[in-house]
Amino acid sequence: MNIAIDGPAGAGKSTIAKKAAGELGFIYVDTGAMYRAVAVYLTESDISASDEDLVEKSIADISVEIKYEDGAQQVYLNGENVTGKLRTEAAGNMASKASALPCVREKLLSLQRDLAASNDVVMDGRDIGTNILPSAELKVYLTASSAVRAKRRYDELVAKGAENIDIEKIEQDIIQRDKQDMEREIAPLCQAEDAILVDSSDMSIPQVIDTIISEFKKIK
Ligand code: DC
Repeated sequence: MNIAIDGPAGAGKSTIAKKAAGELGFIYVDTGAMYRAVAVYLTESDISASDEDLVEKSIADISVEIKYEDGAQQVYLNGENVTGKLRTEAAGNMASKASALPCVREKLLSLQRDLAASNDVVMDGRDIGTNILPSAELKVYLTASSAVRAKRRYDELVAKGAENIDIEKIEQDIIQRDKQDMEREIAPLCQAEDAILVDSSDMSIPQVIDTIISEFKKIK
């Protein structure tokens, strides 16, 4: 069984997908983390995402692997666990740029499909329902307004003790990332025709999870 959850940055996909996977006893697969691992590799190797030829040559021999430790996804880049380096704004922005390149998408495609072929998964990303798992039993397009997504990010940063945060700048970055992910030529972010739309702007996390679980029960 495969559940695909796609949507823009900051819509809460990973929180929701992780909890839904836990409730159903499925594996949670965070595909954004795979793109972030490639982004970390490019940044550490001082390679720009705009130099497509160099990116293609340099990533040909790198290895990106996924392992599960205590139920949590760990990403290994060339044998090193890089999970702790992935969730920065810089890695996210670089991942968004690099993921527009066909060679980067090609590199990660079979890793994603193989995980879904051999496990029950809840997989989140941008093109899971449209491209990676077109036959997923359930597809969800999870979104929220850019203002709500910015406010959630702002609250997260405040909770971590950050100061002087500019919420308008956060919203501008979100809008920019949406544009990059939706307007790229290859596998752009869009709602699959057979995906259910969940706008979480005015919903709590339990409400979103209940919606997904009850949709899943309908098709099971
Ligand atoms: O979900 P995230 O913020 O971790 O993803 C980081 C970037 O990776 C995102 O801006 C676009 C890219 N990505 C993608 O192109 N396709 C996916 N399935 C997942 C992520």
